[in-house]
Amino acid sequence: MTDDILDEVRQDREDEQNEADTGTVPAPFGDYEGHRVGHITAQDEPIVVDREDSYIRAFIDSSFRDDVRLGNYLRIPYPVSEEQDVDFPTSMLVGVINRLEYATVANITDKQDGGYRHEPGEQSFSYVAQIEPISTVTFNPEDDASFEQVTVDKPPKPGCDVYLVEDEEFLRTALRIPQEGAFLGHMAVSGDRIPSEESPLPYYLFNPNATDDNENLGEPAIFRHLQVAGSTGSGKTHASKNILRQLATDKRYTIEVPPEEREEDNVDVQDERVRGLNTTIIDPEGEYVEMGNDPTDGGYTTDFRNDLDAQNIRHGGIQQDPDVGFEVFVPQIEDTNITHNNARSFGIPFEIVRTNRQLLYSSEPPERTRSAINQTISRYFRECNDPQSGYGNPQPTYQEFSQYAEMLLDDADNSPITQNESVLIAARERIVDQYEYRRIFDHGTDSLTDLTQQMFAPGQVTVIPTDHLRGSTDRIVVSCLLAHIVQNKIGSNVNYPHIKGTPMLLALDEAHEYISEASDPRERYLVSNFQQAAKRGRKDKFGLYVITQTPQDINGEIRKQMNTRIYLGLERDVVESHDVYVPKEFKESVTQFNKGQMVVKQPDVRPVELVGLPVCLTRHDS
Ligand SMILES: Nc1ncnc2c1ncn2[C@@H]1O[C@H](COP(=O)(O)OP(=O)(O)OP(=O)(O)O)[C@@H](O)[C@H]1O
Ligand SMILES: [Mg+2]
Repeated sequence: MTDDILDEVRQDREDEQNEADTGTVPAPFGDYEGHRVGHITAQDEPIVVDREDSYIRAFIDSSFRDDVRLGNYLRIPYPVSEEQDVDFPTSMLVGVINRLEYATVANITDKQDGGYRHEPGEQSFSYVAQIEPISTVTFNPEDDASFEQVTVDKPPKPGCDVYLVEDEEFLRTALRIPQEGAFLGHMAVSGDRIPSEESPLPYYLFNPNATDDNENLGEPAIFRHLQVAGSTGSGKTHASKNILRQLATDKRYTIEVPPEEREEDNVDVQDERVRGLNTTIIDPEGEYVEMGNDPTDGGYTTDFRNDLDAQNIRHGGIQQDPDVGFEVFVPQIEDTNITHNNARSFGIPFEIVRTNRQLLYSSEPPERTRSAINQTISRYFRECNDPQSGYGNPQPTYQEFSQYAEMLLDDADNSPITQNESVLIAARERIVDQYEYRRIFDHGTDSLTDLTQQMFAPGQVTVIPTDHLRGSTDRIVVSCLLAHIVQNKIGSNVNYPHIKGTPMLLALDEAHEYISEASDPRERYLVSNFQQAAKRGRKDKFGLYVITQTPQDINGEIRKQMNTRIYLGLERDVVESHDVYVPKEFKESVTQFNKGQMVVKQPDVRPVELVGLPVCLTRHDS
């Protein structure tokens, strides 16, 4: 072989090597050009990174002034250092513009005749962006594992170039946005999708699970609870249908087998198993029942559907989805009409009162009345359990209880409860022969308890509309339902361990109606149940999904447990309420949001602006 040939071979190898090198360097590292908008200035103010308040300013070139806006993400490469054996920066600071200003340049005055018709004009001022640092993203050419995100620990150098962030993967790393999960919307700045309208960055809710074999990454955000808030008509229901649609999948989660079940079977039952999610939606306006059907929106075109498929966004009526079940269960209450198609009805069994006596406290009973009511309830259920008793009825009913209570509370001389006539009267007035209780309890052939397995089945979306109910009837029925779910989810020694043993997301629209800072004792009972449930959600695989227009009215303890918050357009007084935490950088803009615009904060990810899909992914008539 001649030297020439050897040289050629050597050259070929080198070329190959170089090609491989540049091929593995992802944008915006390597020789990626990018959209430069200006440079870091230190002229009038120092460049500061500080544990609390950082101060980084960029001078924006005159020709790029129109390209930057508040909320834009910028990247600032740290220059190549002497030790680096590559000739491109491997580390970049990423920040967000939180202030834009025209700064006066020395020797300019606008105090002159004719004002701006003559010099100076806009170009006589410098345009300066103040940048809030978010993180540093590094790229290690030796390591395949693309980008790494670390906290900012040094300022950018004066004069460094400043670029718009245009690369999705890079931005995702900088903001620590999950790579996958449930799609919530696209990243946006002032309502416009970024990096570009054509290929915006999708934003996901963290949702590791056994099906994707990534449960070791951490807790799904849904089990740390979620709150959607927005003023009337801001799109809460539209957005929630789209989010819940994404969670309606065949994904399974590891959950502990309830001890109650283990005792029953007794034969090598495992400690853990995997199960699909049951999503139960309390639907006060009868809107979520439509989630079984395809959208009727004109925007749900073939092109749009293809676009959704390309992004792995689930869409269409859940009824037709082979991966998940969809069932509607309507509470059957006397004198009401059930108008939903394909719905099963269920009665509220009086038996629920056995473990939830508070459900029979109407207005706040005085202490002695409460005690009389409690004793009456306990005695009745004890009799029910006793086959020898005249009331030895394994199927307790309100009607029978009412007769029993009337007898027990009838006569001050003979009552085993109390000799105090006025207490007896007060207790009778509250529990005997109440029209509302007669309407609510024990109707229909199947009861909530009979149907528990079917209603809260794994891998199913269950919608419970209550639009046929009004006022206190609605609240009592929903209280009974929620008490049944929550008690069996978090209680010990429960009667329906099926609920405990199934991962569950409980969605509550118009939640302020049910779990506010309660004055009425029934609601207070529910609130205390929810407080416990919220605290224990992670262990029990129980997530709350709360939708409200007045987040300040939700009980504070429950509100505090909502680790993911989604804010659609809000009224100013809500934003300013001490009880509502809106990230400070969005306090102003959130009051001017258009439909679909939202701020999202999920655990371990900084708050960002998103735009949801303009089309509801299931039917949403309104
Ligand atoms: N992202 C969006 N793009 C376009 N239209 C939307 C969007 N979100 C909601 N809408 C429309 O706005 C209207 C109100 O939406 P939605 O019912 O979701 O509001 P809401 O906040 O739940 O209202 P309410 O307080 O009455 O419950 C509906 O007609 C809906 O189709
Ligand atoms: Mg709504």
